[in-house]
Amino acid sequence: MGKRIAMLGAGFIARFYADAIQGQRSRDRITTVYSRKEESAGKFAADYNVPHYSTSLEAAVNHPDVDVVCIALPNHLHVTAVLACCMAGKAVICTKPLGRNAAEAKRMLEAVEAAGVFHAYMEDLVYTPKFSKALQSVTAGALGRILWAKSRETHPGPHSEWFWNKELAGGGCILDLGCHCVEITRSFIGKNIRPMEVMCWADTQVKPIDAEDHAIALIKYENGAIGQFEVSWTFRGGLDLRDEVMGTEGTIWINNFLRTGFDMFTTGKGADYVAEKAESNSGWVFPVGDELNDLGYNHMFADMFNALEEEREPRETFYDGYVVNAILDAAYASAASARWEPVKLEVWRGLMGTGKANTLIDYDDHHFLIKEEMTHFGSTKLILKEKNSGKIIEIVK
Ligand SMILES: NC(=O)c1ccc[n+]([C@@H]2O[C@H](COP(=O)([O-])OP(=O)(O)OC[C@H]3O[C@@H](n4cnc5c(N)ncnc54)[C@H](O)[C@@H]3O)[C@@H](O)[C@H]2O)c1
Repeated sequence: MGKRIAMLGAGFIARFYADAIQGQRSRDRITTVYSRKEESAGKFAADYNVPHYSTSLEAAVNHPDVDVVCIALPNHLHVTAVLACCMAGKAVICTKPLGRNAAEAKRMLEAVEAAGVFHAYMEDLVYTPKFSKALQSVTAGALGRILWAKSRETHPGPHSEWFWNKELAGGGCILDLGCHCVEITRSFIGKNIRPMEVMCWADTQVKPIDAEDHAIALIKYENGAIGQFEVSWTFRGGLDLRDEVMGTEGTIWINNFLRTGFDMFTTGKGADYVAEKAESNSGWVFPVGDELNDLGYNHMFADMFNALEEEREPRETFYDGYVVNAILDAAYASAASARWEPVKLEVWRGLMGTGKANTLIDYDDHHFLIKEEMTHFGSTKLILKEKNSGKIIEIVK
């Protein structure tokens, strides 16, 4: 049976979500929409053929024709909206970041668990076709042991005023974009591996705001792997979404958005929308074939609604949102202190005490292998370490 959805919010992401939820030959329908302003709620309802609309959040959540509530509101409203769903006993799916900080996220996690309602964290970027295929390869061991996972999300800045208000948004680009990068890199490293410490640089380099508009961070995991994020609201040239994974047996590079293999030149005649946050629609441009698919929205809703039907957990839950918030709290603490700061996880459901892996590779009974290389002058060089003496030797064959 199709799902009946209450959409909370009628803005930018609510429209992407609605396009995905009601796209193609979907059976799922938005049955009511809440927005602060009657005019925007009415416009959204007309655009998406939604039978009811309201300027009361409670009325939308409690509407009898609603199975699941989709939160697409600014960050400072997520807690209120989640608590309303818990009161109503309704399944709830919430956009990223779950909270403005880990304390808010924990409150939401505890509330949904206490109410016993279905919950999902809408982190679309771990549902993209490229990410899913890459994760499948990583899980199958194609990259060996994962050593480093990096994710970059940079663009020229968000599209609504509340994002730029540190109080309402809860932070700047670290929270807004870092949440995606943390969940991507954490997934490659292993969501059951405990994040330990964060070192972060952040600054306000360009925009006249209180929050950071550019940041880079490293996240140490208990098994020795390192995560990295690069985020910016000051990048020029569109929406840059790239991931890199490095393992003992292989490497993955993913370009999700800006250069997907679709290049177009136009003088600007017939200028049209190119892709999210594209800064130009003339000259050489880089369109995206199907944003709903390439950004993971379709796959995300499929997993979440299937999970609801099958009474199982979706791939991303409020617990994941909480862990992401806790990592980002540590990033903010580190940006302020200029030191490695601990990730404070009051709730941790993954592995404990995973030591660093053994790095020694046996060459034979007496040697460890350091490196083997075929040279341009026709020989093979072997660099070995003697097990007994610890001496490093070279054999040229
Ligand atoms: N890829 C993604 O997952 C993604 C992308 C963009 C935004 N988001 C998230 O979605 C949420 C909404 O962002 P958006 O880009 O749609 O913002 P937006 O400003 O385009 O839309 C926000 C909606 O909330 C309403 N709203 C704003 N202030 C309100 C208030 N004080 N009270 C009640 N309603 C209010 C607006 O009228 C609008 O309908 C945020 O949490 C954001 O982080 C996620």
